[in-house]
Amino acid sequence: MSRLVVVSNRVAPAEEGKQQAGGLAVAILEALKSRGGIWFGWNGTTTENTESGPPDINQVGRLTYATMGLSKRDLDEYYNGFANSTLWPLFHFRLDLASFSGRTYAGYQRVNGLFASRLAPLLEPDDLVWVHDYHLIPFAEQLRTMGLSQRMGFFLHTPFPAPEILVALPGHESIVRNLCAYDLVGFQTEADLRCFANYIRYEAGGLVEELEEGPPGWSGVRVHAFGRTAIARAFPISIETQTMIDLATQAADMAQTQRLRDSLGGRALIIGVDRLDYSKGLPQRFEAFQALLDAYPGNRGQVSFMQVAPPSRTDVAEYQAIRRELETLAGHINGRFAEFDWVPIRYLNKSFSRKSLAGFYRNARIGLVTPLRDGMNLVAKEYVACQNPEDPGVLVLSRFAGAAKELDAALIVNPYDIRAVAENLQRALTMPLAERRERFESMMKVIVANDITHWREVYVDTLYGLGSAD
Ligand code: F6P
Repeated sequence: MSRLVVVSNRVAPAEEGKQQAGGLAVAILEALKSRGGIWFGWNGTTTENTESGPPDINQVGRLTYATMGLSKRDLDEYYNGFANSTLWPLFHFRLDLASFSGRTYAGYQRVNGLFASRLAPLLEPDDLVWVHDYHLIPFAEQLRTMGLSQRMGFFLHTPFPAPEILVALPGHESIVRNLCAYDLVGFQTEADLRCFANYIRYEAGGLVEELEEGPPGWSGVRVHAFGRTAIARAFPISIETQTMIDLATQAADMAQTQRLRDSLGGRALIIGVDRLDYSKGLPQRFEAFQALLDAYPGNRGQVSFMQVAPPSRTDVAEYQAIRRELETLAGHINGRFAEFDWVPIRYLNKSFSRKSLAGFYRNARIGLVTPLRDGMNLVAKEYVACQNPEDPGVLVLSRFAGAAKELDAALIVNPYDIRAVAENLQRALTMPLAERRERFESMMKVIVANDITHWREVYVDTLYGLGSAD
């Protein structure tokens, strides 16, 4: 069996108990431990030194961690710069927030080259190389330039933008050319796949062949462009469904869950959990909650909205701005409606363990997931998995989250339409049990059939099934 070599910007720590809470990290670890392999990436530290040596190697069973630090300049140009100030906003349809700089683009390519040169000596000929996310689009091209011909796959965790948006990026061709150096390019949804295929057809003048039908939502194409051939396919990512079900059941007895219930005193809870990111639609969400209190005053004193929003990418100016905006808005809404014994919005800039969140989700009457644009949004799936089947809550979900395609039994909303989101919150608060159960059961079917293990196996099997690129 080929070894799996996973490359991602961040690498989950090896020590038990210190691992990232995320399901993706868990699924990758599980795959790497069972078939043996390498997890390569940035170790999260910055160094004064501009010259970096070979990666630090940490062997845990059959799994090799290979990680390295980055210089301040590299991190600034690659991570804060091109990845998070150009590609992230652009891929989330926020041209207004994207900055374009030749300096950060050069840094992005340089760091990809640096990473590739440090991984290359560790690779064996029949390794499967699986690269994750927008930080590392040029990675395969860099390895190919060094003469490596292993099967290489890429998975984009974010949306892929419509060509009309992508072409605003100076040098957009080189980014798509970089993508075509992979044997397999995975997207979250068919909508993302279509955007990529349309770019290949209409901007790159390439050829797109439809592959024979896959299961609904998982279709694929073969593209011929820039002198290369690649398979591109939708692989909707998922969660550790059974683990979340178990955690939510266990969390019922946790002191923290009990404290949450006590603090609610029988009031209904609406919950949102997101990284503090402008793509998540948090100001609009706060306004929708305010509109609910305005339009349906009976909810005042009766419903609490808890937004968990751990700060993210704090060195990037746009993230500092959205944080200030939310502080003002939450303060304004609370000042306007709060009573001596009730605060409408509980706004928390901190993170919680998965078990704590599972308990919170189970106690929330509504999961409010309203990004303006999102690759998939795993909170939506986790909220559903954590519900009590006898008395489930309601998911209110943005049509612009990738998850809306699979979770079409949620109340699907347009997050820009504040009034309509408020109406749907009211509908969710008053929804009869039979309808809540019907919607819940329909969504559970999807996330039981496609959990994170299924997703990872389909991706790795597809990559393995492709011949070597050269
Ligand atoms: O899915 C988007 C993503 O950038 C992941 O690649 C990453 O693990 C996560 O968001 C958190 O972002 P960051 O690594 O910038 O904190």
